Amino acid sequence: MAKILVTGGAGYIGSHTRYFLEQRGHSVMVVDNLSRGHRELVPDKILHVLDLHDKQRLAALLKQERIEAVIHFAAYIAVGESTQHPEMYFANNVGGSVSLFEAMIEAGVDKLVFSSTAAAYGTPKKVPITEDQDIAPINPYGESKVMVETILDWLDRYRQFRSISLRYFNACGAEPAAGLGELHDPETHLIPLILRAVQTGKPVTIFGDDYPTPDGTCIRDYIHVSDLSEAHINAVEHLLNGGASDIFNVGTGIGHTVKQVVDAVEKVTGKKVPSTIGPRREGDPPSLVADSRKLQTTLGWRPTRADMEVIVRDAWHFAEAHVLKQK
Ligand code: UFG
Repeated sequence: MAKILVTGGAGYIGSHTRYFLEQRGHSVMVVDNLSRGHRELVPDKILHVLDLHDKQRLAALLKQERIEAVIHFAAYIAVGESTQHPEMYFANNVGGSVSLFEAMIEAGVDKLVFSSTAAAYGTPKKVPITEDQDIAPINPYGESKVMVETILDWLDRYRQFRSISLRYFNACGAEPAAGLGELHDPETHLIPLILRAVQTGKPVTIFGDDYPTPDGTCIRDYIHVSDLSEAHINAVEHLLNGGASDIFNVGTGIGHTVKQVVDAVEKVTGKKVPSTIGPRREGDPPSLVADSRKLQTTLGWRPTRADMEVIVRDAWHFAEAHVLKQK
């Protein structure tokens, strides 16, 4: 079993992946500057509060802990914010990553799994999306992730630095056994916002119902965070076993409209979702669905929690517990 460093391990996907790595028997350290992460999502004894720009301390930690591979989540993730403060996204997501890669090279660590995004494809020409489709991000967030993928490609060629980039579709759900879940501030993601509407009675806005889809609302590929975490474990074990660098989509291949998600929430919670129809949100493509056959055939990964009711049930479990904790 390996010693693995998780950056951004106090965030949503990072905290889940840390949990699943430990379940597999790996030994995990977390680095997070807690600017967006949550201290309570990481056991104290494995948390190092550290910014990725602090290259010297990072390199020292990598050496001291004899880290064999890094899974790199630490980044800003809000598409809308990235259009208001692009420089902040490039400084943090690209600058922070380069600093991490320098520290890794200094410490002799040469394996990395990178948290990339379906936003790399922008508005795709064809759905389901395969990895060989055009890379054409339409916001600074997506561009920042593409830039890091490009840097990783050069490091592979000239530094024998092996990496797997995972382009996620819509991460959602929660792992009930771990007591973990989604806590963004401000929250912009659909499922937590629908659950909040159920809890507070304040309506959620559906962004547009005039898209060219069966019910007029946008289609997305919702991937359970536990399935997504398992993809990272397959990826890091592939690298630890001497596997080559590569890029994979991570999604279920199933599309759900916003209205279908609302229906699933009503079924699971037994409550009516208060909602209103609003205008389209700028930059939302009508449909984003992954073709993730490459990940399935190359790394043997399978999503086992693709059912929308399972996703909503797990997210609801966390949302209910979280509201109780705040009271
Ligand atoms: N939506 C609403 N109302 C809301 C919030 C969202 O109708 O209040 C709709 C959106 O229009 C979209 C769908 O719900 O059709 C999902 O929206 P999210 O904001 O939850 O997720 P996105 O698809 O916009 O973004 C996700 C990730 C990004 C990533 C992007 C790329 O959160 O980090 O996928 O595919 F860049």
